[in-house]
Amino acid sequence: MSDTLTIALSKGRILKETLPLIAAAGIEPLEDISKSRKLIFDTTDSRVKLIIIRATDVPTYVQYGGADMGVTGKDVLMEHGAEGLYEPLDLKISQCRLMTAAKTDAKPVKGRLKVATKFVNLAKQYYAGQGIQADIIKLYGAMELAPILGLADEIVDIVDTGNTLKANGLEPRELIHNISSRLVVNRASMKMKHHHIQSIIDQLAEKVR
Ligand code: ADP
Ligand code: PRP
Ligand code: MG
Repeated sequence: MSDTLTIALSKGRILKETLPLIAAAGIEPLEDISKSRKLIFDTTDSRVKLIIIRATDVPTYVQYGGADMGVTGKDVLMEHGAEGLYEPLDLKISQCRLMTAAKTDAKPVKGRLKVATKFVNLAKQYYAGQGIQADIIKLYGAMELAPILGLADEIVDIVDTGNTLKANGLEPRELIHNISSRLVVNRASMKMKHHHIQSIIDQLAEKVR
């Protein structure tokens, strides 16, 4: 096994908040990630490479050892299942809430509830736990449209400021989970590269605090 460490970062809003954290651990990409079409980057630490991928792919890369560690949202980790991953640190970035929402003027639903979401597993678990019979409709984005167009009675989605809900005539209903981004580590890597990984975890923890 090489002594290089590969860290999978989620592109988009998590990336912006992750870069200052890893910089505090002496890890900075050698070129501007936002100006490059590359997906893999050398860093100021010659033993560390960064890969930039979709947040939803981070658990998969780390699970199979394509990356030794990664950063992604707790929502993504819970939806994925994230079996076999260590989750040693809450980075307290990209904080938001996973909630149900419905049209502000929605009438109570008789019979089965139609729910649109990209969090199919979490939605199933949530409604089952509430004893509510729900049919889940999988979408990949713009969930807020579904109640407006009569596709669903409710959605399960990320809420931060609430502006997206409000702008579309919806309101938040029930909180399912508070969300933030987490550091995850491959189990074998944690054993084989323990010293290196633990020193990064410690420096990140110090910066988060
Ligand atoms: P995606 O293309 O998967 O939606 P995002 O960058 O929008 O990628 O979201 C990545 C993660 O950031 C989500 O899984 C969630 O943890 C968090 N997140 C999503 N939307 C928001 C938001 N509006 N405010 C804060 N955090 C968010
Ligand atoms: C996220 C989420 C909501 C919105 C919530 O969408 O899916 O639509 O942010 O934030 P707010 O409460 O502050 O309005 P995002 O901007 O990530 O769009 P996408 O995931 O559909 O690309
Ligand atoms: Mg998004």
